This record gives sequence, structure tokens and C-alpha cells, in this order.
Amino acid sequence: MEVIVATWREPGDVASAAAMAARREGADLATALERGLAAAELDPSLIAIGLGSVPNADGELELDASMMIGKTLEAGAVCGVRGIVPVISLARRVMERTPHVMLAGEQARRFALEQGFEPRNLLTENAIARYEEWRLRPERIKEYVHHVDDKPSDTITMIGLCDGELVAASSTSGLPFKKPGRIGDSPIIGAGIYADDEIGAAGATGNGEELWKACASFRTTMNLRAGMSPQEACEETIRHMIRRQPKSIDIPCVVFAMDRQGKIGAASTKHPFPLWVCRDGNRELLEFPSLGPE
Ligand code: GLY
Repeated sequence: MEVIVATWREPGDVASAAAMAARREGADLATALERGLAAAELDPSLIAIGLGSVPNADGELELDASMMIGKTLEAGAVCGVRGIVPVISLARRVMERTPHVMLAGEQARRFALEQGFEPRNLLTENAIARYEEWRLRPERIKEYVHHVDDKPSDTITMIGLCDGELVAASSTSGLPFKKPGRIGDSPIIGAGIYADDEIGAAGATGNGEELWKACASFRTTMNLRAGMSPQEACEETIRHMIRRQPKSIDIPCVVFAMDRQGKIGAASTKHPFPLWVCRDGNRELLEFPSLGPE
């Protein structure tokens, strides 16, 4: 059985299609998720992640990414990286070529250059125009979170299951117009992603501060271990966040999960949530409920 899921309608479409194409070409699961996220990072028309995504308050792009292998619990991440794509590939290099879990900022960029990544300008004309528009009207920040020009503007997080092995991975440019140096949940193992072949896997997207405080992906995976279904596991995490973290309903927070049988679930603090689900070669967009006040 093979199941691959990816967050958000438009960027998740690109990422899930590229991951499936990679699998058809014989790539292993980690490589398929890496290629999925890399395809979205390198697509300048997608403002969710990577090249041409939404800059920070200084008008610069600082990218975060992570990957975790459920078989071995190996994990790698990078955060606050400037001028390098795809950062998901850099996160994987940290996992596979260093004894560490995370490299940050300028030193992550230095590692990238050592590894042969080409530095590049990630700001497109559209990204600069969006930044200039925001500078003139910073009160519009909430419109930019998740919906710029009606295109979701956030993280892409993916989970895959193949032959009993789970992988989770995430890539983001973070909260639009964030304070420079700000890091959210996506590169934090246990917050943005978690995978354990003995239990299942979970991922998150949305307001990184709140998802991090909830250790949302680890909590959801532990809910699976306690015997909950993936849907129950996600709903427990989201209900906990709504009850204990009132800010988690200001900007949507989403968790999604998969168990070892490939069953999936997802829930959100605000707005129904679209998730691409690829199962044994078939790809469909499913919508999951918001549990917050509408
Ligand atoms: N979930 C992405 C972030 O808040 O950085």
C-alpha cells in the first residue's frame, strides 16, 4: 500500500503530483516527498514556499524545512536560510550527512554552499511588489496569511506511507512578513512533523507559534499510540489548542495524521482544510472540518 498526502489546494497539487511522478520513476518514499516539496519550492508562481514566496518584514526570504524517517527516527532540518532552494533537500543533507538535527541561518547557508547548492536570488518581481504593498498597508497582514490573491500562502507539509514505512517532511517561508529571524513550527521535529513506523505520522500547517507550543505533530502521534483513530487524534489536538491557546483560532492551525494502515485524518481551528491524498496511484483533494467557531 502506498499513501502520500500534501497540504493546501494549489501548492499541494504541485507537490503531490511531483511526489507521485517520482514514485512512478522508482524513487524511494523520502526522495518522492523531497521531489514533491522541491517542485513546489522551485515554482515561482506558487507563493506558498521557496522561490517567489512571501518575504519577511525586511523584504527578504528566510526558509525553513524538515524531514523525519519513521523507520529509524532520523531527522534533519534547516531554519532561517536565505538564498538557497530547495531547502527540503538541504534538510535531508543535514539528516544524512551530519550528526546533527538542525542547522540555522547563515551557517545552514554555508553548509549548503559546501554541499554544492548554488546561491540564488529568491525574490521575484511579484514577491517584491507584494512586500511593497504590505509596507504601505501592514494592517492587511491577516489577508496575507493563507490567502494572497486567493492562493494559499503557507507551508506545504507531506506524509507518506509505503510498504509499512512512514516519512514526514515540510517546507515553508513562514508567516508572511514575519520578524526577521522568526522560526515557526515547520522545521521543529514534533511541532511541524513527526513520524514513527511503530505508531504513525503527523504534520502541521498554519500558525507556527501556536502549533509549536502544542507540540502538535508529536501530540497527535501520541494520540495515535493511545489508540485513537487518525481523525480522533487530530481532533483531540485541535480541541486542546482551541481550549488552551485562544490565539490558535486567529490564524488557522491544522494537524493531519496517518496510521500504519494508511488511514488519514485532519482537523483545523478555523476554516475547512484541503488535503491532497494519493492512494495507490489515485489522487484526490479531500476537505476536513474546522472545529473552531465560524
Ligand atoms: N507553519 C508555518 C509557520 O508558521 O512558519
